[in-house]
Amino acid sequence: MTSFPPLKNDLLLRAARCEKVERIPVWAMRQAGRYLPEFREVRSKHDFFTICRTPELACEVTMQPLRRMDLDAAIIFSDILVIPQALGMTVEMKPGKGPTFPGPLLLPEDIKKLNTTPDVTAELGYVFEAITLTRQKLEGKVPLIGFSGAPWTLMAYMIEGQSSSTFSKARAWLYKYPEESKSLLGILTNVIIDYLVGQVKAGAQLLQLFESHAGILGAKTFNEFSLPYLKLIASKVKSKLSDAGHATVPMTVFAKDAHYALEDLVNTDYDVIGLDWTIDPIMASKLASSKGKALQGNLDPAALYGSEESIASLTKAMVKQFGTRGYIANLGHGMYPDMVPEHLKKFVDAVHTCSENSEN
Ligand code: CP3
Repeated sequence: MTSFPPLKNDLLLRAARCEKVERIPVWAMRQAGRYLPEFREVRSKHDFFTICRTPELACEVTMQPLRRMDLDAAIIFSDILVIPQALGMTVEMKPGKGPTFPGPLLLPEDIKKLNTTPDVTAELGYVFEAITLTRQKLEGKVPLIGFSGAPWTLMAYMIEGQSSSTFSKARAWLYKYPEESKSLLGILTNVIIDYLVGQVKAGAQLLQLFESHAGILGAKTFNEFSLPYLKLIASKVKSKLSDAGHATVPMTVFAKDAHYALEDLVNTDYDVIGLDWTIDPIMASKLASSKGKALQGNLDPAALYGSEESIASLTKAMVKQFGTRGYIANLGHGMYPDMVPEHLKKFVDAVHTCSENSEN
């Protein structure tokens, strides 16, 4: 096992375990990205997936936001779509269009063309290397978060071939080919489990699952095509790490727009439930605290377009609603490319100022 510099700021990990904290930890989804001029500079010289595949570059862009802001976590720079790539699919990042698959899955027969049991270390070892390098470079400043896309969200992209407001092709599979859909979700689940275990062995200190397209499912389809796989991932990642004699790490599930599933998610093995901004903090806190779960979120990212005064007051009001135990401040989704870094800094500072010495 690689040894790393000791952790100096473990607020994120304590909050994830609902332990006492001196101040609320804060980070932001997509904290590394195009809203930062220094990221655009790197991006002007390298293709998106080249950055993901080059540990030195991935490490550099992971560190960029930490140089500007007093963040309590780093998240490894990568993308959820590296898993479809590991299964043999081509994914391109097209400016203005986002990720694009030139050969999406059209019919269930296409599943046979995939490499359904990839050697995860051979295909995704570059992410593990980026994690190990970043842990060294962080020098214990803050914990490093690893992540993966969740099965349904990955399946949705693999069928749709690009972002979509309806994902109607992917949703059609759930009704036309339910059994084949489950077989694809099972294939993805197995790869995700090995991928996340590998990330922890490489140095990730918390894991987040992005079920970014939970909102296009309803309660019934979520219960059938998302929740069982999410549950299996949390329990298997933890048991595989324990069996390997490795310490487990806290796990966060972020099922965007799955307000209908909050109660079910609180009853899983996830330690932290990530919330989008449509969820009422007081209602969510009551549910989560009854089960000893932590919450993460959920300022409307668009609030960062407002004035610094309004960012500070909205942040203060949000922190008050969530309370200080078992809470990680974040946005309700990622940063948008046209945001100004100073406004994210204002959010981060506001969380710290209004929560310092918030022992409870
Ligand atoms: O949070 C971080 O700082 C880590 C980096 C990160 C990226 N993608 C970098 C990225 C993370 C955690 C992701 C996850 C991801 N990727 C998700 C889940 C989170 C969410 O937003 O719901 C999803 C759905 C994807 C798929 C994806 N990748 C999309 C839809 C896009 C296009 C987004 C856009 O605004 O155009 C990407 C591209 C992407 N991923 C960029 C970055 C910095 C921008 C691409 C570029 O530089 O050209």
